[in-house]
Amino acid sequence: KNEISIGLLGMGTVGSGVATILQQHQDDLRHKLGVPVTIKKVLVKDLNKERLSSLDPVVFTTDIHEILDDSSLDIIVEVMGGIEGAKSAIESALKAGKGVVTANKDVMAQYGHELLKLADEQKCDLFYEASVAGGIPIIRTLEDGLASDRITSLMGIVNGTTNFILTKMKTDHMSYEAALAEATRLGYAEADPSADVDGLDAARKMVILSSLAFSTEVHLEDVLVRGMKEIGDGDLEIAAEFGYTMKMVGSSKKDEDGIEVSVEPVLMANSHPLASVNNEFNAVYIHGDAVGETMLYGPGAGSLPTATSVVSDIIAACRNLLLEVNGKRVHSAQHERVIKPESR
Ligand code: NAP
Ligand code: HSE
Repeated sequence: KNEISIGLLGMGTVGSGVATILQQHQDDLRHKLGVPVTIKKVLVKDLNKERLSSLDPVVFTTDIHEILDDSSLDIIVEVMGGIEGAKSAIESALKAGKGVVTANKDVMAQYGHELLKLADEQKCDLFYEASVAGGIPIIRTLEDGLASDRITSLMGIVNGTTNFILTKMKTDHMSYEAALAEATRLGYAEADPSADVDGLDAARKMVILSSLAFSTEVHLEDVLVRGMKEIGDGDLEIAAEFGYTMKMVGSSKKDEDGIEVSVEPVLMANSHPLASVNNEFNAVYIHGDAVGETMLYGPGAGSLPTATSVVSDIIAACRNLLLEVNGKRVHSAQHERVIKPESR
């Protein structure tokens, strides 16, 4: 191969970041891979929207089949969002033998097990680093970095929008509505921000992380979810008075009785490291039998940080393609699914 061709599904907050990084880092990427990586086609909804990218306008299309049926494309990058349409696009790409990179936690939380099985059968790569905690390489840390350990718990802030809102309400005394509007303007919030504020987005991320950490199937229904509505008027001020900070915290634990997963507002003492994770930043503590406690911290949402993870997945898929080892994995058996009933 003397070039890797990409089909990009979506050119919004994340997609435009992907185009920017691929363009601005093209010499480094060529150096790393030995061949250029080029976006050949881009799916959008509205061809008339003004785009910041320097891509040739002829690459844009509103017809997904122009991309999915194009046999010259090597890798499909799904950053359009939504569930059923995105899932079906990922399936079609895998069935056509293409590598897939997605940032879509909605799809990976609901259909990840099914899609990863399909990818295995098709001997194709399916990478999803950007689906959890934007620019933090947490998926690879669980899959590779800590592969030697037995993980017992995960705890952290995995939604940038709610953390941004709580930070702005506390430090700038912004109203909830104004802070949410700002998070939306900055591209942190989901297309339907109720997924952020009701805790669903964080719950989906905890499903993905828990499934990986405990090598089992964790489902969305297994997660106890309490959203920001549980925070009462004046709670933030009272907490501050007593040296506490309110955070939306995802938590997942495994013991001999099973797995317990939750997302809820939690009062953290100001001395706790999570209390000083501010704005759109995320942080996740991982506890393993051997490593003890380790923490990852970084931007959890936004165009370029999220695109960093997407492009790193593109590089991994390119390397596998060039080495002709795409989709090849050592079999990893799943543990029996045991969820504690009280966590639902
Ligand atoms: P976005 O800004 O709304 O962009 C979506 C893009 O997809 C737009 O370019 C839109 O076209 C296109 N699109 C959507 N539905 C389409 C359809 N049916 N047909 C054709 N084009 C379609 O969304 P985003 O924030 O980039 O998020 C994309 C994905 O990444 C989501 O799964 C999200 O959960 C995930 N994610 C986002 C972040 C973040 O910080 N934003 C971080 C991690 C993961 P138009 O431009 O023409 O409207
Ligand atoms: N809406 C998500 C968040 C985007 O705020 O964390 C990153 O997944």
